[in-house]
Amino acid sequence: MSDKAYFGRRYMLSASHRLHSDALSDEVNRTTYGKCNNAYGHGHNYVVEVLVGGAVNPETGMVMNMVDLDKTVENTVLTRFDHTNLNFDPLFVKRVPTTENLCREVFQLLKDALPADQLSYVRIEETENNFFQYEGE
Ligand code: NI
Repeated sequence: MSDKAYFGRRYMLSASHRLHSDALSDEVNRTTYGKCNNAYGHGHNYVVEVLVGGAVNPETGMVMNMVDLDKTVENTVLTRFDHTNLNFDPLFVKRVPTTENLCREVFQLLKDALPADQLSYVRIEETENNFFQYEGE
């Protein structure tokens, strides 16, 4: 039996994007992404859900201090992406800023900033009806 507990927290992130792949023709981009390929882009109020897991610290009774998690997410994710156009971020110059890819990049940024193996997944709600999740390799 594992003695692992999980702690999840949600963050708001507003950003715009345009779905367009340089690997596809303009016509295929239009048929693939529809309105999301419109030249001037569109915005989302993303809900970024972060789940961390690990042994409960016997002294604090916590998996991770919420203040530490908030600081890490703020410094590595929110400051970088909130109120920006994702297409202009270096991470999305060669990669389409779909929410699948945003999940992967947020996961990698947080994985590098959090204690080893504590990040379980990143889940991003793009709209009321869509959500995406990435759990690393
Ligand atoms: Ni969109």
